[in-house]
Amino acid sequence: MTLCGNCIYVSAVLSCLFFGVLCGFCSETLTLNGKWSLSNSNGSVSLPAEVPGCVHSALQQQGYIQDPYFRFNDVSYRWIAFDNWTYTTTFTVSAQLRSKQKVQLVFHGVDTVASIWLNGVDVGKTDNMFRRYDFPVRDLLQDGDNVLKVNLMSPVLYASERRKAHSAYRVPPECPPDVQKGECHVNFIRKAQSSFSWDWGPSFPTMGLWRGVQLEAFDVLQLIQVSCVPVFSVRLSQWRVHVELLVDAVQTTSGHISLSVPELDSEQIVQTQFLQGKTKNSFTLHINTSSRVKLWWPNGHGDRHFYLLTSRSFQDGFLILNTESKVYFRTAELVQEPVVGSPGLSFYFRINGKAIFLKGSNWIPAHSFQDQVTPAVLRNLLQSAVDASMNALRVWGGGVYEQDLFYSLCDELGIMVWQDFMFACAMYPTEDDFIQTVREEVIQQVQRLKSHPSIIIWSGNNENEAALATDWFSIPVSQKPTYLKDYVTLYVNNIRAVAQEEDQSRPFLVSSPTNGAESEREGWVAANPYDLHYGDTHFYSYTLDCWDWRTFPRTRFASEYGFQSWPSFSTLQPVSIEEDWSYNSTFTSHRQHHESGNQQMFLQAALHFNLPNATDPLKRFTDGLYITQVTQAQCVKAQTEFYRRSQSEILGGKGRTMGALYWQLNDVWQAPSWSSIEFGGKWKMLHYFAQNFFAAVLPVGFEDDGTLFIYAVSDLSHDLKLRAVVSVFSWSDLDPVCTLKSDPLLIPGGSAAAIFKQPVATLLAGCGRCTRLTCLLAFHLEDGSGQQGPSNHHFLCSPKDAQGLQRPNITASVQEDASGFTVSLHSAAVSAFVWLDVGNIPGRFSANAFLMLSTNRTVRFNAWRPTSAAELSGSLTITSLRDVY
Ligand SMILES: *[C@@H]1O[C@H](CO)[C@@H](O)[C@H](O)[C@H]1NC(C)=O
Ligand SMILES: *[C@@H]1O[C@H](CO)[C@@H](O)[C@H](O)[C@H]1NC(C)=O
Ligand SMILES: *[C@@H]1O[C@H](CO)[C@@H](O)[C@H](O)[C@H]1NC(C)=O
Ligand SMILES: *[C@@H]1O[C@H](CO)[C@@H](O)[C@H](O)[C@H]1NC(C)=O
Ligand SMILES: *[C@@H]1O[C@H](CO)[C@@H](O)[C@H](O)[C@H]1NC(C)=O
Ligand SMILES: *[C@@H]1O[C@H](CO)[C@@H](O)[C@H](O)[C@H]1NC(C)=O
Ligand SMILES: *[C@@H]1O[C@H](CO)[C@@H](O)[C@H](O)[C@H]1NC(C)=O
Repeated sequence: MTLCGNCIYVSAVLSCLFFGVLCGFCSETLTLNGKWSLSNSNGSVSLPAEVPGCVHSALQQQGYIQDPYFRFNDVSYRWIAFDNWTYTTTFTVSAQLRSKQKVQLVFHGVDTVASIWLNGVDVGKTDNMFRRYDFPVRDLLQDGDNVLKVNLMSPVLYASERRKAHSAYRVPPECPPDVQKGECHVNFIRKAQSSFSWDWGPSFPTMGLWRGVQLEAFDVLQLIQVSCVPVFSVRLSQWRVHVELLVDAVQTTSGHISLSVPELDSEQIVQTQFLQGKTKNSFTLHINTSSRVKLWWPNGHGDRHFYLLTSRSFQDGFLILNTESKVYFRTAELVQEPVVGSPGLSFYFRINGKAIFLKGSNWIPAHSFQDQVTPAVLRNLLQSAVDASMNALRVWGGGVYEQDLFYSLCDELGIMVWQDFMFACAMYPTEDDFIQTVREEVIQQVQRLKSHPSIIIWSGNNENEAALATDWFSIPVSQKPTYLKDYVTLYVNNIRAVAQEEDQSRPFLVSSPTNGAESEREGWVAANPYDLHYGDTHFYSYTLDCWDWRTFPRTRFASEYGFQSWPSFSTLQPVSIEEDWSYNSTFTSHRQHHESGNQQMFLQAALHFNLPNATDPLKRFTDGLYITQVTQAQCVKAQTEFYRRSQSEILGGKGRTMGALYWQLNDVWQAPSWSSIEFGGKWKMLHYFAQNFFAAVLPVGFEDDGTLFIYAVSDLSHDLKLRAVVSVFSWSDLDPVCTLKSDPLLIPGGSAAAIFKQPVATLLAGCGRCTRLTCLLAFHLEDGSGQQGPSNHHFLCSPKDAQGLQRPNITASVQEDASGFTVSLHSAAVSAFVWLDVGNIPGRFSANAFLMLSTNRTVRFNAWRPTSAAELSGSLTITSLRDVY
């Protein structure tokens, strides 16, 4: 069984005997994956190479180079991408295969610029990593050995040559900032834009055959792609499934086609004709039992039922096409309509008619070398997203359109995907051949991906509307119309037009951030794409105090925001050596690709925390890693809680925030970045925090002008009658000083409302022996059946000013039982940001980075490989805020 998008081919290769029906038109597939040979342009390097794969991976696997991520190797191995490389394989084909009417040589992904030769004959060229290429080769195949060569040109050289050929005007940003140590003109080549470096990643301009290669031989026809997109007709109150078969037919073939979803008693048989050559054939299956259809819901909002749809085509009683696809039913709308009390438009998603707050993050490539993104890596990252109550990810436009498995997992797990097209932070050329290759890219990607219910929106690019509107590249006013015209040509007249022709079932936005409908009204580039009254926003501020919610924009939808931190020591250790482990080392500045990033992290940390000052240099370094993670977690928590509590309010025309996607979920290598999950899958403190701040029911505490507010936020579908329970603790004592309860309040599902309000001075006075410096607040929500959602806290002063915080001397013991490992903690004092770390033992704790307000606490450890209580205790370190100064 081959997986193909949302549609599963049970038999992409035609079954020869199916229900006793004889099929005389069998097709045959010969995979050319496996060991090829690889050499550089002058033959000085020659080695075996795995396909799918890339040059860097092959060089590493064969021992020609070290781990490219080790220390400064990104710079040491720059030469690789300046050379040209040739992949060669030799294969034999059966007489039966050669006897077929048509034989196609199919490349599912070539990275990127190549000429392809079979038995000494030039069969074609490639220039786009995001396209599938196929070439007719029947008449070139021979008895005995066939030799297939793929000559790859240096992507850096190609990009620079394309730049030179575009002499009329520059297409910025020419080169990345020096701090990124990257290559220039990536916008001239259709490959992952971050492969020439990014502010979180290294420059590895890859080359290779990054997806499979095969021969497809057939006599009648071959199914290239099948898609099934359910659409709901409100008028008929009925579901229809649009089925599209992309077919390559040797000659025009008449027959009939049967489409059926047995589970829904739906079947349709129609006459059809597959015209000669590659054609798209569209059919519609009416579901006459629509009231029985079980829907696909995002994580936290319901289940995800799928149905199997069978498409079969017969000609003269012979089965010529037979495929089975998964179909999930759901509707996705982006609602932009007037808002009472505001001059702008709303911006939120409605899934199956229900307004849903998007909670999640942004996805970047999981590795510089895509061949190393295994199913296990994808599963782990996506499961980690769901385990933190996320329901959405934005697949960011500077990476790759992810592999099929990524979207299938999102379908299964209920992760809504905001899918960018792969254009980011740049202007782009609009030469005819560039536009043509992009059009083909968009057609193929939309056809491949549109069956996935997880994808709820297409978006044309990352930040290019903002780049043009707010002049990132110092374009002279007189030249701006040229760039505006190029922008509209590429994203509106081509990408949008093609995507909408291929798929009308989901919304299309031209950029992110954008003002959406308002940007369109202003000619597609708004005067201010960051306008809080419209669309989505990206917002970063590293210098303002992130504990102060007033610094956050009250946006309709926060699609990017975030703060950097360093990954943990166990993640850095394999790619560094002892002399690297200090904040003034060459290594720590080399890995930091964001200008002044290290300084910003520590300046932000110093606003509220004592900076680590141990005399032991290693401890000082690892405590520093810890404090950057504390700072990041606390900052993103504050900002996310602000967005979630703003979902029901309009204040000064702003609010009704309906999305919080922080930047960024994952990492591409071991370096400081905005991620909440480290390279290798280890959760940072932020990811443990996300488990709480994205919880379905959440209490949010904040101060406005000296008054404490607690909001109850609920993403549930039903109402709750909640009260807030607020406890005042002294920093120096594990017993609460006093506890208050609010009156119960009805909190409708999908809303946020203030549930508790009291001036802090009154609260503390009522509680006795407390000041802002000696006490802190802990609170939770409860109803008749007990606590609802996680506990939360509010600091009344910066922890660096807190009086009475002691070294807690936390001790731990690890036990193993039938269901895994338990860590029992014992603390002698109130302790903040208690961080459990088991080094390089992969796995995660049930909770971490918590505030400990009791002597004892137990947490579970979920190990991702076999381990033992002894190994865990031997590796376990515990750090709390008071332990680092
Ligand atoms: C072949 O190319 C490599 C990489 O560009 C270079 O280092 C080497 O000196 C060249 N060897 C010869 C014999 O030209
Ligand atoms: C790589 O190929 C390009 C285009 O054919 C050529 O101009 C360049 O000299 C080649 N580079 C090397 C190192 O051979
Ligand atoms: C299903 O409904 C469609 C449109 O309402 C109708 O044309 C078709 O005949 C119906 N099919 C069955 C099997 O009832
Ligand atoms: C970093 O600082 C230490 C102590 O101040 C000093 O000994 C060391 O040379 C510095 N390293 C670099 C790379 O500047
Ligand atoms: C933790 O241990 C230190 C050193 O032994 C001691 O000074 C401190 O009082 C202890 N903390 C508590 C809360 O007992
Ligand atoms: C905490 O755990 C210790 C050791 O397991 C136990 O002796 C003690 O009674 C517990 N304390 C509380 C307050 O539960
Ligand atoms: C570290 O900083 C703390 C808080 O400012 C101070 O009390 C302590 O003495 C310092 N320790 C060292 C070793 O400098």
